[in-house]
Amino acid sequence: MRAWEFRTIIEPFRIKAVEDIPMLDRAARERALDRAGHNVFLLRADEVTIDLLTDSGTGAMSANQWSALMLGDESYAGSRSFQRLEAVVHALTGYPHVFPVHQGRAAERILAATVLRPDMIVLNNTHFDTTRANVEQAGARAVDLPVKAAADPEDRSPFKGDMDLDRLRSALDDDGARVAFVMLTLTNNAAGGQPVSMANLRAVSALCKAKGVPFLLDAARFAENAWFIHTREEGFASWSLPDIARAMFDLSDGCTMSAKKDGIVHIGGLLCTRNAEWAERFRNELILGEGFPTYGGLAGRDLEAMAVGLQEALDEDYLRYRARSIAYFAEGLERVGVPVVHPPGGHAVYLDAGRLLPHVPPEQLPGVALLTALYREGGIRGVEVGSLMFPQARLQLVRLAVPRRVYTQAHIDYVIEVAERVVAQARDLRGYRIVREPPFLRHFSAVLEPIA
Ligand code: F0G
Repeated sequence: MRAWEFRTIIEPFRIKAVEDIPMLDRAARERALDRAGHNVFLLRADEVTIDLLTDSGTGAMSANQWSALMLGDESYAGSRSFQRLEAVVHALTGYPHVFPVHQGRAAERILAATVLRPDMIVLNNTHFDTTRANVEQAGARAVDLPVKAAADPEDRSPFKGDMDLDRLRSALDDDGARVAFVMLTLTNNAAGGQPVSMANLRAVSALCKAKGVPFLLDAARFAENAWFIHTREEGFASWSLPDIARAMFDLSDGCTMSAKKDGIVHIGGLLCTRNAEWAERFRNELILGEGFPTYGGLAGRDLEAMAVGLQEALDEDYLRYRARSIAYFAEGLERVGVPVVHPPGGHAVYLDAGRLLPHVPPEQLPGVALLTALYREGGIRGVEVGSLMFPQARLQLVRLAVPRRVYTQAHIDYVIEVAERVVAQARDLRGYRIVREPPFLRHFSAVLEPIA
């Protein structure tokens, strides 16, 4: 039998450096929650035992990445580290023009500043919030076109990250001339970390080509998306993961990428294009804000770590473990009575707080009630994706995102056990009200209080 065919999931790595995690008692957690105004964004990291706030920049680098740091060439222009990164990105994506940037939203900002004008429209399966903010900042309109299945947590379709092709067709027919570009976010983070199928990528690409509209990828989780195509889509089981990734990139005209996810680095991103004229605009804008185009706001050593991480992310043993461990997490939560979004996504489990706490109405923030209970019981931190984050939200979710290569199966079992205790007190959990909130992106800093 091969190691991954056993019931027990083993991490396909062993641990060379360890980092202590804080082990607080309940009284200390209660005090911390009070001090933080019941907003887990305002907790200090040393008050959190298991931190599932994000999978972004929180991964563990490999021994190969740490040793690559030492090879960093810190030359201001034309460094060897840039050449190594560029060669890796060329092989991975085929894009001729490659720009490093300090993180994903820097790529989005440069793209928006150079390509968008106020009367324009951007179509996306679902814009991530920074992508939407950058589009709107340029005065353009950000339109989401998810498939209907994405709105139903019980729908088990394999590719709920797909774009709705009928709506894309009519948007291109009605407003084609105003559409600056079409983007597919892989995987669709704002819609549950759900993957996009190769069939959908091909169809979107063909529709864009027919209309002469540029087609871009938000490739933050390209490797996890490739794994789902490999395992869920007919005809791809025999394809290698790099071949699937290359086929995805081949269908598009360029990408933005936060390398803090599937690049498995603590900081870094990419902006790529096939269009020489766009590349010239990107270069000039990048120099204004990020630095010289061969380092883009990063150190040479960061470019080295990114070059290694982008390749490691497509390792089959790693991706099998990654997808299996997220599914294990979702199965465990469901077993102890927590409703979750199906099927489990590539980087996180989304808990349905609205269904677990039907006595707490949406305006009393059931996601916050669940989130604070998870913290109070076991020091677990996640993020609310419901009425606090989006006042118009249809679902009241809590996202527990899993950092790459950081927590073991025992940590996940602990989170499941804590969740079981929260389920036992679900009826007694109360809603929250907002005491103070900032003018925008209120979830980051709002102060809350429990409703008596
Ligand atoms: N696109 C997607 C799909 C993302 O998930 C993120 C970040 C970005 C772009 C922006 O990249 O953070 O490097 O500037 N997502 C993080 C998260 C913050 O927690 O999901 P960035």
